[in-house]
Amino acid sequence: MNSLVAVLVGYAIGSLSFAVIVSRLMGLNDPRSYGSGNPGATNVLRSGNRKAAILTLVFDALKGYVPVLAALWLMPRFGWGESTVAFVGLAAFLGHLWPVFFSFQGGKGVATAAGVLLAINPILGAATLGTWLIVAFFTRYSSLAAIVAALFAPFYQLLIWGPSLMVLPIAIMSLLLVWRHEANIRKLMAGTESRIGQKAAGAA
Ligand code: G3P
Repeated sequence: MNSLVAVLVGYAIGSLSFAVIVSRLMGLNDPRSYGSGNPGATNVLRSGNRKAAILTLVFDALKGYVPVLAALWLMPRFGWGESTVAFVGLAAFLGHLWPVFFSFQGGKGVATAAGVLLAINPILGAATLGTWLIVAFFTRYSSLAAIVAALFAPFYQLLIWGPSLMVLPIAIMSLLLVWRHEANIRKLMAGTESRIGQKAAGAA
C-alpha cells in the first residue's frame, strides 16, 4: 500500500468527532453549543455526564492510537519508514482538528495526540501523560496541562529516541495543539478559564 493511502486513512479515522457522536447517541446537547464550544472530552464533562466524557476521551484517544499501531504493524510489509508511521498519526490528529465528516469544525486534539504518542512509543506517551496529570492535578486546568504536556513531548521524544525524522510530525502536532488553545491561553491570562469538572450553562 502506498504510504499516502495510509495517511489518508489515518485522516479519515481522525475525522470521527467522538464528542459529537457520543453526545448524539446519549441524547445530550451538541458540545459545540455550550461551554468552550470545543468538541472534546473536557467540554463534554461540562455537561455533567461523566460517562459521556470518558467515552469521548477513550474513543478520541483510540482514533490516534489504532491507526499508528496498524501502520507500525504494516510497516515491514509495505516497506514504510518510521516517518510514515508518525505522519499517519499526524494525519489522525489533523482529522480531529479539521474533520471531513463534520464540516471541518473539530477540536483541539489533546486525547488524539495522547493516543498517537502512546502508540509511537509507550514511554513517550507515558511521560507526556504524566506531565498532563501533574499540571492538571496542581492547577485543575485541562487546557494548561495540555499546553505544557504538548510543549514537552518533542523534547521527550528527542531524549528517548535521539534526533530522527519522527520528531518533525510530533513537533508539528505540538505546535498545532498549542495554537488551537489560543482562546484558552487568553482566558488563562485573564483568570477566566474554567477548571476541570466545572459545569457549563446550557449543557443539559
Ligand atoms: O481537551 C481540550 C482541553 O485542553 C481544553 O478544552 O473545552 O476547555 O477548551 P476546553
